[in-house]
Amino acid sequence: TWTSVNIVEEQIKVIREQVGDKRVICGLSGGVDSAVAAALVQRAIGDQLTCVFVDHGLLRQGEAEQVERDFVEATGVDLKVVDAQERFLGFLDGVTDPEQKRKIIGREFIRVFEAAEREIVEESEGTPVEFLVQGTLYPDVVESGGGEGAANIKSHHNVGGLPEDLQFTLIEPLRSLFKDEVRLVGEQLGLPPEIVWRHPFPGPGLAIRIIGAVDAERLDILREADAIARAEVTAAGLDRDIWQFPVVLLADVRSVGVQGDGRTYGHPVVLRPVSSEDAMTADWSRLPYDVLERISTRITNEVEEVNRVVLDITSKPPGTIEWE
Ligand code: XMP
Repeated sequence: TWTSVNIVEEQIKVIREQVGDKRVICGLSGGVDSAVAAALVQRAIGDQLTCVFVDHGLLRQGEAEQVERDFVEATGVDLKVVDAQERFLGFLDGVTDPEQKRKIIGREFIRVFEAAEREIVEESEGTPVEFLVQGTLYPDVVESGGGEGAANIKSHHNVGGLPEDLQFTLIEPLRSLFKDEVRLVGEQLGLPPEIVWRHPFPGPGLAIRIIGAVDAERLDILREADAIARAEVTAAGLDRDIWQFPVVLLADVRSVGVQGDGRTYGHPVVLRPVSSEDAMTADWSRLPYDVLERISTRITNEVEEVNRVVLDITSKPPGTIEWE
């Protein structure tokens, strides 16, 4: 019978046998899947695993700390953090096309990850890394084997994903599991609830939630607005009713507003809460009006550059979940 205890015990055995005394690497994205996969492998082989977290500067408020502090505290994992924020911002400078953003982020991620891997090998006196941990789930396995066209509407890049030309043997301890099972395994392994229950978040991060070019100031604005929306949904106890809640900054749009006696000319943000089973289709969430009202009031009061909050009421299809 399936229990998270059985899965953990079984996988620990399998991983130990597969790895022997070799070295293992794992990219952490901040998401549930890579975190649970890494925690499981850590439980099995301890210090033979090194995790790499590439901080591309496109995460939401508090997410880098969740990886660097909370995940490490919960697992004792050996973590290498690469602060690549300036590098990513540099390559993204002036880029507005969504696919272009994805390509740049995917390419740079692989470069930074490979450099980190070379450093790890140097630091361990040349001992090669033979295995790469991936948080592949059962639906990913089915999807990539099935030739499903819908997956190609946008060039999905999983930051934390496999650099194609790297010579590693894969360890995929979650290959037979669904998302809800992965969360149970994560709880079983003692991961913090903020990680275990995190909503899906795209690899290219906030870069594809800024409509227009990405820069540090725009990222800060979006981060603030996003943090408010998340806090209010959490306070209302609605986290587990919602699949995902993108907040999108229309950075090239301005509209006139009024605050106190003054005219403002600020940016709108779009709230995009959706319900879904698997992200292939989605419906817009009917959030209670009082929650929407608190989010709107707080964002326009607290985020100076934002003077308008709008709600996206489009299903998928025809809309996608993300705006880019
Ligand atoms: P869309 O916008 O296509 O998104 O309805 C479906 C799901 O995929 C996520 N998403 C991505 N995930 N890299 C990722 O790892 C990407 O480039 C990417 N684009 C979209 C999106 O957040 C939703 O969960």
